Amino acid sequence: MKPKVYVSQPICQEARDYLAQYCDFKVWEQGEPIKREELLKKIADVDGLITSGRRITENLLNHAPKLKVVSNLSVGYNNFDLEVMKKRNVIGTNTPGVLDETVADLAFGLILASARRIAELDQFVKAGKWDQASGDEPFIGMDVHSATLGIIGMGRIGEAIARRGKLGFNMDVLYYNRNRKPEAEEELGVEYRDLESLLKQSDFVLLMTPLTPETEGMIGEKEFKLMKKSAIFINVSRGQTIDEQALIQALENKEIHGAALDVFEQEPVNKDNPLLKMPNVVTTPHIGSATRKTTDAMAMKAAKNMVAALTGEEPENRVV
Ligand code: DGY
Repeated sequence: MKPKVYVSQPICQEARDYLAQYCDFKVWEQGEPIKREELLKKIADVDGLITSGRRITENLLNHAPKLKVVSNLSVGYNNFDLEVMKKRNVIGTNTPGVLDETVADLAFGLILASARRIAELDQFVKAGKWDQASGDEPFIGMDVHSATLGIIGMGRIGEAIARRGKLGFNMDVLYYNRNRKPEAEEELGVEYRDLESLLKQSDFVLLMTPLTPETEGMIGEKEFKLMKKSAIFINVSRGQTIDEQALIQALENKEIHGAALDVFEQEPVNKDNPLLKMPNVVTTPHIGSATRKTTDAMAMKAAKNMVAALTGEEPENRVV
């Protein structure tokens, strides 16, 4: 008998064809996300779960006594309770490598959109207000080229962003990372700074670090106060790596100039979140890897990790 797998969101045909060779699988095909109670029912007798960002907790595992593998459709795996999974011998995998350039594209899009006020001025034009503006003042933004970009988290995606900044926009690129990256310094000409210096010197502060107990809330009131008043803060990592309330305050008190956010403390973001009312804040709905090609490549990787783990091989991207 083939092992049973549940996939909590639609995936590409290629990944389905691959899974079909080894597993009996079912997919949540609806447009809206599966509710937790529904998911708990669907996984009651499965051996594997392919999912994106669903919290894998003791409670979930109690509802899925046969579950042996959770294959994440994302590179981040902060949704895993690693201790519990380890204790219960549940394998967890992720999808690194295939999304680096795609996430870097979005990060750069956010830099440009916020510096040149693209989203705000798009609304302005579409609202028919162009003829009411006198002079250039309502349209003035910030230069991206030749500015200083500070990247917090110099992993593969951080490097891809640095490359765009350096080669495409002639930026000075500073970085802060747990470990120094001599190869990146050599190859890309990026310069290491301690966190405080990076925050003080950067025109754009970009957060691209995974969410771990060490990085949770790493950018808060103190860090926003260290940034330039003209700084733009960009978060493409996870909402919990910052103190969102402190960001709101820094923006309200004009301690920084603006922000661009792909991720939020609560997702989907609460409709009443004050950040949504601020014209100097650009928002996207956690879409770092969301292109057709990359999403399909991630699904394929997740399917291969699942099959490897269920057939007793070591999955390529095992994280627990
Ligand atoms: C990931 O894969 O973890 C990213 O958040 C995708 O946007």
